[in-house]
Amino acid sequence: MALAPNTPAPATGLTTTAAPFIEEARAHREIYIHQPYELYSDDNQATWGRLIGRMQDRWGRYGNRRYLEGLDKLQLSPARIPHLEDINRFLQPLTGFCARAVTGYVPSYLFLDCLRRREFPTTVTIRDSAHLEYLPEPDIFHDVAGHVPMHTDPAFAEALVRFGACAAAAARRVAATADQHEKLRRLTSNIRAMSRFFWFSVEFGLMRASPGARDGDLKVYGSGLLSSFGEISHAIEAPEVERRPFEIERVVNQPFEIDHYQPLLFIVDSFDHLFALVGELEAWLVAGKLDDVAGGEPEVKEADLASFLAAKHD
Ligand SMILES: [Fe+2]
Repeated sequence: MALAPNTPAPATGLTTTAAPFIEEARAHREIYIHQPYELYSDDNQATWGRLIGRMQDRWGRYGNRRYLEGLDKLQLSPARIPHLEDINRFLQPLTGFCARAVTGYVPSYLFLDCLRRREFPTTVTIRDSAHLEYLPEPDIFHDVAGHVPMHTDPAFAEALVRFGACAAAAARRVAATADQHEKLRRLTSNIRAMSRFFWFSVEFGLMRASPGARDGDLKVYGSGLLSSFGEISHAIEAPEVERRPFEIERVVNQPFEIDHYQPLLFIVDSFDHLFALVGELEAWLVAGKLDDVAGGEPEVKEADLASFLAAKHD
């Protein structure tokens, strides 16, 4: 059927910087959406192919073994952007996790609560073909090729769920704090601590290649590194990067910046170790040991605070 003369052409393209479908959903304050697959342009599809294609060697060389197994299990193809439904058909039987399409930024309590329910908020837009390397916000390549393969691993999946439980503990604790000023002060510090922990593990974590591996024998499991053509090798090879054992006290007080390669990274021994560390994080939080972490990055947004204050907790 021909369009009437004044009917606007359907909005096409799901490029991070230009996606009318997403802009409209955001204007309606929608967070959870479906993946409007028919809107991907040929240029979007070609970008996906280039992003996947150029990472193959680097993933093989620097990626954690569990990540590589996850890539196989999900059968990601450079030929086309995946349908989240297809991803979930492979993923859900393995760990109960699923990828759930979102419009972009999700306030931090809602994000972490999704993890508790084994849902991973997943961006469906893809970066501009002219800017393959750096992108401050997530896109489907970062989320689906960087994060989701890790969710096929049961030990890693449990660590994410435990992270969500930690956020729930923070929400309960803050609800029990009567003084309004103290409530916001504590919550700001708690959110900053959790964001730093998440950043230096789930996003930029390194792991020993095997339990008894030499100090320098490291692999990448953090999704920010796994989705960066330049930084994945820099994280492992560059002599100027400081690589330290993961210590909670150090990590929760360590500011980070998102607009350049990370000068400092933290190493865990295994995903069981990561799971134990998240448990320790929660214990620290409940004991009030995350109420006064060092100031600095990241900034805690109003929407993040509001999401914790509005949390329906059990
Ligand atoms: Fe991420």
